[in-house]
Amino acid sequence: MTEPTEPHDDGVRRRDFINIAAISFAGVGGIAALVPLISQMSASADVLAESSTEVDISAIAPGQAIKTLFRKQPVFVRNLTPAEIAAADAVNPATLRDPQTLEQRTKAGKTNWLITLGVCTHLGCVPLGAGPGEVRGEFGGYFCPCHGSVYDTAARIRKGPAPKNLEVPPYEFSSDTVVKIG
Ligand code: FES
Repeated sequence: MTEPTEPHDDGVRRRDFINIAAISFAGVGGIAALVPLISQMSASADVLAESSTEVDISAIAPGQAIKTLFRKQPVFVRNLTPAEIAAADAVNPATLRDPQTLEQRTKAGKTNWLITLGVCTHLGCVPLGAGPGEVRGEFGGYFCPCHGSVYDTAARIRKGPAPKNLEVPPYEFSSDTVVKIG
């Protein structure tokens, strides 16, 4: 038995209609998919503001530190005393687990300003030493109470399980009294 066949013209018209309908649907779907992508790409003002943090350091006396936040992570800003700088410089960096000098971890001419993340490089606890009266450990820098990592006055790891020095975030001095982190 043979199927009845449609006239040639009708068959072409029906296929064209189906193809056009399919393309239009794909077009609408394509635009719908692009909209959320574009809105994700344009960062809102509050996200941009969070990408850097300005810190007024004018009230931090030598020997003191403050805790602030950068991208939701704690940051320590510390004004080292001449004795703390001398203690850091007295160490041969080749003897360190994560060899770095204080000069490599600070800005030229401003080695007293030690700016690091307040995140232990072992498992991420916040070390003590930046708050008033907090214990600073036997090397005078920071002490992590979670598993006993001890950092020196350049926030370099000296003892305990942490593998690396406290991380120095990107920053620059906007002026003598303002630091822009990020
Ligand atoms: S998280 Fe700091 S020593 Fe383990």
